[in-house]
Amino acid sequence: MPIDVAAEVIANHPLSSDYNVLALAAPAIAAAAAPGQFVMVKPGTGFDPLLRRPFSIFEVLRDADGTPAGLTILSKRIGPSTSLVYDARPGQRVAVLGPLGRPFTVVDPPSEGWMVAGGVGLAPFATLAQALRARGVETTLFYGARRAAELFYLDFFRALGVELVLTTEDGSAGERGRIVAPLDRRLASRAASQPVMLYACGPEGMLAATARTAIAHDRPCQVSVERVMGCGLGGCYSCVIPMRGDDGAFHHVRSCIAGPVLAADQIRWD
Ligand SMILES: Cc1cc2nc3c(=O)[nH]c(=O)nc-3n(C[C@H](O)[C@H](O)[C@H](O)COP(=O)(O)OP(=O)(O)OC[C@H]3O[C@@H](n4cnc5c(N)ncnc54)[C@H](O)[C@@H]3O)c2cc1C
Ligand code: FES
Repeated sequence: MPIDVAAEVIANHPLSSDYNVLALAAPAIAAAAAPGQFVMVKPGTGFDPLLRRPFSIFEVLRDADGTPAGLTILSKRIGPSTSLVYDARPGQRVAVLGPLGRPFTVVDPPSEGWMVAGGVGLAPFATLAQALRARGVETTLFYGARRAAELFYLDFFRALGVELVLTTEDGSAGERGRIVAPLDRRLASRAASQPVMLYACGPEGMLAATARTAIAHDRPCQVSVERVMGCGLGGCYSCVIPMRGDDGAFHHVRSCIAGPVLAADQIRWD
């Protein structure tokens, strides 16, 4: 059952003029969360915005003895709610509902785990990387952003033993271009006998390109889709996505409850 709390803001760390990490005291949600799940957040008390917004659970914060104490969200400012998240101050209360949705399926060795992140699509991969590394899975993060200054938490992933493959659109860090290019090359050079699970999160165009690449190389791929979500609970149908059903036909499913993590090869990418 999702838990609804008025969580106190513990800290707000700006990462750039648009990105920030907001730490929230929501221990019960943090304790129940699995990698890939999300929370519905309302940072203000007024009517604008009226509805909560979905955010991936970025990190689970723990006390010195390992007890979950809270969670963080990684936010990119694009509108009213994400602006309130950017401006939130310690001590303020934020409505947080979660954990919600279906998480990633975490593989075991000998499979490798390759995470593919575009921009703020990095958010579900901190907890996934921890889960993969805890199982001894060789883990790679393919991470693309517009510029070097928008590549965040690289040392966090390095400290976990995650290999980083970076791209930027302006060439200021890593390879110039889109992240699917090095992913495609890596997949092409990998023997079919070496299993790998792909995990992707980012803009829908990037997810579609990743899905096509995974299918072309006959590799399984789990994508975390980011449809507009009005409720996060299955009640409003704002988040539907066409998925292949058992009958082979496409049906619209509610990505907040069937996902947000879905099998890439079952989605119709228009
Ligand atoms: C499961 C899930 C997890 C998410 N996790 C994160 C996260 O960890 N960090 C983060 O920064 N954002 C995340 N998002 C996206 C985030 O919910 C939106 O950025 C947020 O709702 C924007 O709210 P706003 O009030 O600031 O802007 P709005 O005014 O609601 O939106 C501004 C503009 O962005 C468009 N937009 C809104 N939501 C989306 C969306 N989901 N996809 C594409 N365009 C959209 C709107 O149509 C509008 O044009 C997630 C979305 C989903 C569905
Ligand atoms: S967000 Fe309301 S049904 Fe999915």
